[in-house]
Amino acid sequence: MNFLVIYYSLSGKTKLVAEKISELLNCETEQIIDLKNRKGFLGFLVAGYDALKKKTTDIKQITKNLDFYENIVLCFPVWASNVPPAIRTFLNNFKEKIKNISFVATMGFHANESMFKEINKIINKRPKFTISITKKDLKTKKYLDKIKEIKKFYEKD
Ligand SMILES: Cc1cc2nc3c(=O)[nH]c(=O)nc-3n(C[C@H](O)[C@H](O)[C@H](O)COP(=O)(O)O)c2cc1C
Repeated sequence: MNFLVIYYSLSGKTKLVAEKISELLNCETEQIIDLKNRKGFLGFLVAGYDALKKKTTDIKQITKNLDFYENIVLCFPVWASNVPPAIRTFLNNFKEKIKNISFVATMGFHANESMFKEINKIINKRPKFTISITKKDLKTKKYLDKIKEIKKFYEKD
C-alpha cells in the first residue's frame, strides 16, 4: 500500500503534523502553496472571508503524480469553520485522480463536523478517516497519540 501526505499550512502547525504523519507512514509529502499573499492582519481577515465564502484560489503546480498513490492523507487548518481556499482548489483540480482520501484538520478549538461535511461535498468520496487536532492537542503532544491511530485504520484494510 502506498501513501502520500499532502498538506496546506499557513503558520506551520499543520506542516508539523503532516511531517510526523509522513514519518509514521514512511512516505513523502507534498505541500500545497497558495499563491495569494495571506500574511499580516489584513491577510488573516481576507483568509477567513475567502474560506467562509467558499472561494478558491490559485495554487502552485504540485510536483507529484497522484495516479501513483493508493492513499492520500490531506492535512489542513480549519478556517472560519471551513476549508482554506487552497484545499478547495486542490480538491476541485484533482478529485478525479484521488483513489482513497483521509483528512487531518488542525484547529484552534474543537472539531467541526460541518467542515468535514463541506469537504465531503467537494470531493464526493467517503474518507477512510478524519482526525481533528486542536491547539491544546499540539501543546500537550496528545496529537502524537491521535496520529498513531492512522496505522490502525490502514491495517483494517
Ligand atoms: C483565517 C483563519 C481562520 C481560522 N478559523 C478558525 C476556526 O473557525 N476555528 C478554529 O478552531 N480555528 C480557526 N483558526 C485557527 C487555525 O485553524 C489553527 O491555528 C491551525 O492549527 C493553524 O494551522 P497552520 O499553522 O498550519 O496554518 C483560523 C486561523 C486562520 C488563519
